[in-house]
Amino acid sequence: MNSKQTKNTPITILEDVFGTTKDGVTVKRFKMNNENGMEVSIITYGGIITSLKVPNKNNVSEDVVLGYNLLSDYEKSTPYFGALIGRYGNRIAKGKFSIDGKEYTLQANDGPNHLHGGVKGFDKVVWSAEVLNDVGALKLSYLSKDMEEGYPGNLHTEVIYTLTNDNVLEVFYRATTDKKTIVNLTQHSYFNLSGDFSKPILDHIVSINANKFIPVDANLIPTGKLKDVANTPFDFREPKKIGQEINIEHEQLKRGLGYDHCWVLNDQNQAMRFTASAHEPNSGRLLEVFSSEPGIQLYTGNFLDGTLPNKQGGTYAYRTGFCLETQHYPDSPNQKEFPSTILKPGEVYSSKTSFKFSIK
Ligand code: GLA
Repeated sequence: MNSKQTKNTPITILEDVFGTTKDGVTVKRFKMNNENGMEVSIITYGGIITSLKVPNKNNVSEDVVLGYNLLSDYEKSTPYFGALIGRYGNRIAKGKFSIDGKEYTLQANDGPNHLHGGVKGFDKVVWSAEVLNDVGALKLSYLSKDMEEGYPGNLHTEVIYTLTNDNVLEVFYRATTDKKTIVNLTQHSYFNLSGDFSKPILDHIVSINANKFIPVDANLIPTGKLKDVANTPFDFREPKKIGQEINIEHEQLKRGLGYDHCWVLNDQNQAMRFTASAHEPNSGRLLEVFSSEPGIQLYTGNFLDGTLPNKQGGTYAYRTGFCLETQHYPDSPNQKEFPSTILKPGEVYSSKTSFKFSIK
């Protein structure tokens, strides 16, 4: 949590009802406002950020995240718009992994693989909410039961969203278990910093603080080797347009249908550091992402195809949003060389990511 905030910080947090699930559960919405024109709306279903309003260079606040106006649309079909992802973000090959010689089998919900926690992951459950007014934060909690979606151990998860007056939205994750398990939590917001959801994101200028990325096979599972970004379209060490090289002939771009890869972030020491940025020159909006995680997945909305309704009366067309998902590497439970995602009883999983907005 941001220690700079005091009791007097005028972050206002208002609560209303967003909707009722098809099982009859009430879903609350919390609107957090700061004194600099930022407004974040978060619902208890999936911990989803349904809207994130940020000022442009003319000080006009507009929504910069993809999502829906209606809960029923989230329940019907969503490519994880704005959601918390768990218990394991990204893919696990064939949904199988072993802990201490015992094999566990998860649902294959993405071709042959397990993706983003399964059929009913953390993005589709209703979280308990507590407003922490003194620090301008919303605390969400969820107990994922032993063997839920096939994962061992009762996992107590807490996610704290904190808004600050310097236009930072911080996401703090904490989890404990009573049996050895695997954990990899992330936030799946799709950004379009233009504020216009009919515009593709190809003109956003992106940088990623990574010298290497993780090549994948035809099913988007890491081959196990890390590759230097130098002389590849995956080099974002100097800022460049997302669209600059997205359509060039490259086997990895073909497999991802664009960018849908995890980068190996520099300076891996668990401390918060700069990981990536995105700048949309017309609006002037700049997003900078800081994180304690070792990796970041850049996904460029390659599966958006104009079938899902947007919040502005149209639909979400191809590449009208991009995600920067901080995380451990895909398929870590099956890749011995990758940083471990195992959580043991008595240990505390903790992870932090900040999304900082400004004008450039
Ligand atoms: C992740 C995956 C993508 C895709 C999206 C949701 O970012 O890496 O392949 O599944 O989620 O559509």
